[in-house]
Amino acid sequence: MPRLVVVSNRVAVPDPEGPRQAGGLAVAVNAALKRREGIWFGWSGEISEDDNPPQVVQRRQRSFVTIDLSSTDFQEYYNGFANRVLWPILHYRVDLAEFTSVELGGYLRVNARFADALSRFIRPDDWIWVHDYHLLPLAKELRARGHDNPIGFFLHIPCPSPDILLALPQHLETVGALSHYDLVGTQTQHDADNLRQYFELQGANFARNRTYFDIEGRRVQLRAFPVAIATRVYARTARTAMRSDFANEVRDSLNGRSLILGVDRLDYSKGIPHRIQGFGQFLETFPDWRGRITYLQVTPKSRSDVPEYADINQTVNTLVGQINGRFGAPAWTPIRYVNRAYSRASLAALYRMARVGLVTPLRDGMNLVAKEFVAAQNPEDPGVLVLSQFAGAAEELGEGSILVNPHEPEAMAAAIDTALQMPLAERQSRYRRMFRHLAAHDIDRWAESFLAALMESRHTTPRILDNLRQLFAARG
Ligand code: G6P
Repeated sequence: MPRLVVVSNRVAVPDPEGPRQAGGLAVAVNAALKRREGIWFGWSGEISEDDNPPQVVQRRQRSFVTIDLSSTDFQEYYNGFANRVLWPILHYRVDLAEFTSVELGGYLRVNARFADALSRFIRPDDWIWVHDYHLLPLAKELRARGHDNPIGFFLHIPCPSPDILLALPQHLETVGALSHYDLVGTQTQHDADNLRQYFELQGANFARNRTYFDIEGRRVQLRAFPVAIATRVYARTARTAMRSDFANEVRDSLNGRSLILGVDRLDYSKGIPHRIQGFGQFLETFPDWRGRITYLQVTPKSRSDVPEYADINQTVNTLVGQINGRFGAPAWTPIRYVNRAYSRASLAALYRMARVGLVTPLRDGMNLVAKEFVAAQNPEDPGVLVLSQFAGAAEELGEGSILVNPHEPEAMAAAIDTALQMPLAERQSRYRRMFRHLAAHDIDRWAESFLAALMESRHTTPRILDNLRQLFAARG
């Protein structure tokens, strides 16, 4: 089995002392590195002006290799281009994008730095798997340094239609650079279709099955690989976590009230203000529920140096205050709003305790909270998932959840009421349908199918043979 080199902006270097807080990307990368010799390369999370050599942490057959960023790099690459240009545009928010060519320069420079630092760790027979929007041009940089290895890319966030992608200044240097990978994976078929249309506009020639294209003499495979979770492990974690002090304390504090739960990073793509307004509408339209439910919104802060994130913080605080002020009573607070991050086990307990899970982003690549919420449920008495039609997860969980348009507060209010009133038999059958799917499509299968496709990429026949084959097939 070849060695696997994984590259992502953040690296979850194992910390035996720290809590297990790994997010979706870390769980995915760990699945890919399972049972394989490998390297995980990326940013250390530290800012330093010194030209320190890469730091290497060895854990059995895996090496974690990280580099620091200078404050200019951090500002231009991470805060600037990645999170003020690519993040909003890829989440369909062209209105929030703040582009300057200085920041694009910083983004390209850091990608080149990553390639320089990584270069000496790469062996000719390694497979390389690059993750997410921070590193779109990395394959181009590695190829320029003579690495002919199979290189795959997975985009964890959405990919909008070319109408929106073309608003990205100098898009050929970023999105266009994806054509230097052997394989490009997206979360959903919808994302893959959007990217295919973008490359068609750039003159790419797609094979009839639409998964391979040729451009400037390079051949690229483009497919959807919906990211997943370790379903059965997570279900076990949730069962065990219910016995923790944390779980008991929260359960006692509810005082018999039903729990409505939201868990999201503080980010404008998550639709938290819309959700709170939908919840306010619910209390307005269905007054019988007042005093009988508690809505807990767990929202760790993120990317605090980016101005749009400071704005969303203010907006959410104001809305929570308004709803609590308007509907609250001395013995009842409708919304509990918490900015702390919790361990995976604590979150699993909250999911299992909740009667309703609100996962209503305005746009989301996948949203693993939706999948974890389902996996964590008690099969005998499961809670109900209220899911945005704009989350990637809706392609897989649309039938078992209650789908909503987060822009419609009345629909959100009605969905919460329906979820709270849903009879046990219906909750069980929805849960079973979703759990079966998640158990069959778990994170191990996701990682293996991506890597199998990467291997296949290297064994495709030249295009001329494809075309001949298609010609014969068409003639019957
Ligand atoms: C999303 C992205 C990840 C990113 C995470 C946290 O899930 O897809 O690449 O790591 O958000 O954001 P942060 O900026 O804190 O790394």
